[in-house]
Amino acid sequence: MDIQKVSLETTSLLLDQSLTPDLRKHVELFLMCHSKMEEVVPSDVAVRLVVFNLGYLPGGQKALITRSETTLLALEAAKRVLAPGGLISIVVYVGHPGGREEFEMVQAFASELPVQNWVCTKLQMLNRPSAPMIILLYRR
Ligand SMILES: C[S@@+](CC[C@H](N)C(=O)[O-])C[C@H]1O[C@@H](n2cnc3c(N)ncnc32)[C@H](O)[C@@H]1O
Repeated sequence: MDIQKVSLETTSLLLDQSLTPDLRKHVELFLMCHSKMEEVVPSDVAVRLVVFNLGYLPGGQKALITRSETTLLALEAAKRVLAPGGLISIVVYVGHPGGREEFEMVQAFASELPVQNWVCTKLQMLNRPSAPMIILLYRR
């Protein structure tokens, strides 16, 4: 899912080049906000992995960054669709305007998940403070 057509076109090209036609036919791309993921995820499917790559598209429109409000809605949707034993992976960038605010929202969201049901970790480069961070939310 992406709200920027060029991003989906690039992804589609990479998939065409790197997957066999048999595998490629299993991948669908959606021009839509990730907060609406429940509209395309079939309700009877146990989702095992949700991957977010936040921020802006390098070489694309820098104004089209992911934003805290819709990212929070998307995280809540991901939490609802994820099956036990599943993982939410979030790459979050802090180097652009609005990035640190979005990171803090993601971190607060992860910190509030109940420890009985979730294992939440953050991977951060200590010697490069503005490097992207990876947040992993594992549902027990
Ligand atoms: C770091 S790029 C990732 C591009 C591509 N998805 C990838 O992983 O290679 C972040 C992308 O988020 C997209 N984006 C911004 N707001 C969004 C939203 N509300 N829902 C889905 N995608 C969004 C941007 O258009 C941009 O392409």
